[in-house]
Amino acid sequence: IQTDIPALKDRVPFTLGSALTRPDTLGVHGELLARHFNGITPGNELKWDATEPREGEFAFADGDALVDFGLQHGMTVRGHTLAWHSQTPAWVFDGADKQTLLKRLENHVRTLVTRYKGKIAVWDVVNEVVDENQPDGLRRSPWYKITGLDFIRTAFRVAHEADPDAKLFVNDYNTEFPRKREALYNLVKRLKAEGVPIDGVGHQLHLNIEQPPASAVEDTIERFATLGVEQQVTELDVSVYTDFVSSYDTIPAELLAEQGHRYKELFDVFRRQAAHLDSVTVWGESDDVSWLNTWPIVRLNAPLLFDRDLQAKPAYWAVADPS
Ligand code: XIL
Repeated sequence: IQTDIPALKDRVPFTLGSALTRPDTLGVHGELLARHFNGITPGNELKWDATEPREGEFAFADGDALVDFGLQHGMTVRGHTLAWHSQTPAWVFDGADKQTLLKRLENHVRTLVTRYKGKIAVWDVVNEVVDENQPDGLRRSPWYKITGLDFIRTAFRVAHEADPDAKLFVNDYNTEFPRKREALYNLVKRLKAEGVPIDGVGHQLHLNIEQPPASAVEDTIERFATLGVEQQVTELDVSVYTDFVSSYDTIPAELLAEQGHRYKELFDVFRRQAAHLDSVTVWGESDDVSWLNTWPIVRLNAPLLFDRDLQAKPAYWAVADPS
């Protein structure tokens, strides 16, 4: 890795995190992470399918390794995620009535949050629960269909009991789009009014090179600031594609320069809003490990700050040296 460039974490007024999406690459990627980032989110290892593949059989070896890596390097660790409709084994929902499902949830949440008490500072307690196209703004997941809003209430209550010091977040994508923003806003407002122990809102921010404008991101941060919740950017990346079908054999250099401008605009917003935003996490440290090389189709993508050879991209310089 380059050792003659500034550590990115020293150039921003908030925690700068990265997801660790490919633990098998931890060697040299670990050096890059340790040098530039002071936050880390295990990309898959704390999800339900990884931690409780069969009822009551917990598996923590992978999660522990990544959490320990983060702690050894003085990083703030984000726990992702306790209740989601994706990457959740079928047994969780199979034949479950409301009471059974909430018991499974309670056991899962209590076990994970207790294990990492004092180690994981922030949990994405629920992930992607909003659907702005539903009349009540809530995604019709198995969680919702079986329990209504009670899975959210239960997950937060139990997480708070298990570690009262952990910050508890609702996390979602597309929160920069007005309709989704309002649906999430209404949900958080309602749950807070009920006394559900929600500390914050996570904005995933999976963006592309053109959309949405940075001003929409700023509007979202300002909107949630009026609710008095903490906010974090949790999964930032900037795809070089604007659709779900195109693909390049090599990414044009102009596009990488343009992406740099995009990162600069975004980080200008984050810096301006630093009073409301204490952490920004990118979803991977370098282009070779990004999930966007396989989602929504297999194609070469380059959405992050470092390239496949772990060299600084224009996007890195846009963050490190925004003037
Ligand atoms: C992604 C991981 O990066 C991939 O490795 C996995 O195959 C699918 O999930 N929103 C989220 C993350 O909340 O958990 C997702 O992570 C990316 C979208």
